[in-house]
Amino acid sequence: MKNKYIVAIVAGILCAGILTTGLVWSMLDGEDPKEESGENSQSQQQPTDAQTPDEGKQETPDESEKEPEKQPEKEQNPDEGKQEKPDESEKVPEEKPAEKPVEQPAPKPADGSAGYVGNAVIATMTKEEIETMLNDPFMLLVNRDHRIGKDFNGLNLTSYNGDHRLNDVTASALRQLISAGKSAGYNYVLYSGYRSYSTQYNIYYGKVSRYKNQGYSEEEAIRLTNQYSAPPGASEHQTGLAADVCIPSIVNKYDCLHENYEYTDEYKWFSAHAHEYGFILRYRKGDEAITGYNFEPWHYRYVGVDVATEIYKMDVTFEEYVEALQARLAQLNTAQ
Ligand code: DAL
Ligand code: ZN
Repeated sequence: MKNKYIVAIVAGILCAGILTTGLVWSMLDGEDPKEESGENSQSQQQPTDAQTPDEGKQETPDESEKEPEKQPEKEQNPDEGKQEKPDESEKVPEEKPAEKPVEQPAPKPADGSAGYVGNAVIATMTKEEIETMLNDPFMLLVNRDHRIGKDFNGLNLTSYNGDHRLNDVTASALRQLISAGKSAGYNYVLYSGYRSYSTQYNIYYGKVSRYKNQGYSEEEAIRLTNQYSAPPGASEHQTGLAADVCIPSIVNKYDCLHENYEYTDEYKWFSAHAHEYGFILRYRKGDEAITGYNFEPWHYRYVGVDVATEIYKMDVTFEEYVEALQARLAQLNTAQ
């Protein structure tokens, strides 16, 4: 019996020794019990992609830059909502229009007079007359290279049919033009007149966003938007001197600013008579590299009857006409 106790005590001491050795061994091996519980696991130290705080921010226009105007006026182009075919989009002009060389003035005549013969009417103008014309508000050139400020809120705006606003002289001239069209058997309505900087901002970036939602890259979305829309500050709608004119007969079938617009009798009449009331077709077919926009058969710009008639006869863009005036002025200044 006594031997049994001795054997049990010895066995107990041996077991305790083995357990103690095991514990000391494991501590020396550097194991951290926390690892097993996952408290320090890598998955909790690195955020997932979904947690990246800046994701998606760059692609959204900064809301803080927007003015509180919520409802942009209507603006549509024939490609709106359509998936653009890749080869079509390649035909689009570059965002920055290529400079078209200004018509070279003729060499100075022997009598020392300026001798500019680029255009008969411009050639007869004095320096003062050209300066007055270039400073005329109705001659304000607005495009991507000639922008107006955020706070430019149109020139003498007046309500047009309750729905729109236009410069007062422009509104009166447009009423007369549309009335003359009605007498000739054609109907027209104003689709878009004055647009504020913020409205243009919403239109422009709204289109960029829509193209991106269709899967286009940011660069491509901007390029496609630039076909028909001016960035904020670069639209002459912000002056109140521009009018998008709608043909109601094609609204019913398609949409107001439809791509078949140019094939209608209404378009033919309007584009042939607009200058008689002071308007020019601003973005003509074939002039995309100069104006920077695709052909817009609906967009007219008021410049006054004399200038519009001159531009119509010269068959040039507004950019070219203004450049011709500036070239002649430079020539007169050099001759002094
Ligand atoms: N559609 C013309 C270019 C504009 O946005 O002003
Ligand atoms: Zn327009």
